[in-house]
Amino acid sequence: MTPSRGRQPSSLVVATLHEEAVAFCQRFGLIAIPGSRRLVRKVSEVLGVVRGERRLASHSARDRSIRADAPLSTAHGGLVIQLAVVNLKGGVGKTTTAVHLAASLGRKAPTLLVDTDPQGSASRWAQLSPELPYRTVAYPHHNLKTRLPGLAQGYQHVVLDTPPGHIAIVQAAVASASVVLVPVEPYLMDLDRLAPTIDLLAQAGAQNNPDVLVLLTRVRSGTRSARGAREVLGARGLPVLRSEIPLFEAYGWGYGLVPPDGHAYGALLEELLSSEVVAGVSHESL
Ligand SMILES: Nc1ncnc2c1ncn2[C@@H]1O[C@H](COP(=O)(O)OP(=O)(O)OP(=O)(O)O)[C@@H](O)[C@H]1O
Ligand SMILES: [Mg+2]
Repeated sequence: MTPSRGRQPSSLVVATLHEEAVAFCQRFGLIAIPGSRRLVRKVSEVLGVVRGERRLASHSARDRSIRADAPLSTAHGGLVIQLAVVNLKGGVGKTTTAVHLAASLGRKAPTLLVDTDPQGSASRWAQLSPELPYRTVAYPHHNLKTRLPGLAQGYQHVVLDTPPGHIAIVQAAVASASVVLVPVEPYLMDLDRLAPTIDLLAQAGAQNNPDVLVLLTRVRSGTRSARGAREVLGARGLPVLRSEIPLFEAYGWGYGLVPPDGHAYGALLEELLSSEVVAGVSHESL
């Protein structure tokens, strides 16, 4: 067992079999237990903490039922969140945001991540990490709106990861979403380059009128950039979420791993689910 650098270990126990995953957990201040799954369960029982491996195990069981050919019956009352992560600028944290939110949602109810990006980063992430608490499907096509109801059958939540280019696909994702998150880095060039995305949102979302929310990502702690960005975005009349995603090495190195529960994306989800922020999100069964 490897406690995090000098800090009190948190109450989480995370099952992990790979060295990279151990390093990842340490950065997050989690206890990492390299070893077999059985050992991890044993230690979890002895310590009396059951987040992490045990939760993942139960989600894996559910995931197996989701992966069965027959779709789940819609005992969950249909879709609750249909969220697209959109920014035509590349490398702003769209996939990282989509994956972390899908994981947080997937721990609550069956969740589908639709990878609409032909680059396939979210799909690759899922290949590398079969224990993700949500299902991923690749659908990089502009007829997404027509196909989505079929793909999403049996899922309570749907997260759409979108490409930086491929305008027709991004338009289709926006037209299919009830909430659009726009991750952006808090720097002037990035804010300036938001204009084409905002134009696309206005045009593609004209019919379904999704809630559009800007999310500041890769924010350097101890700098003024986030505050400055809020002022610029506020002056343009764009709603900015209170939650911010810090520039954190662990996010960069978390690729291919199961995102941990909580942290910045957990706080973001809580904010999203608060009715003041997203009018279109029902709280049913969350
Ligand atoms: N908060 C963060 N802190 C540090 N690194 C991050 C953070 N968020 C994302 N990254 C890293 O930044 C890079 C770009 O992130 P990501 O792939 O999520 O962006 P993207 O908008 O989906 O890119 P693309 O437009 O190419 O699809 C990746 O290497 C990712 O691991
Ligand atoms: Mg991406």
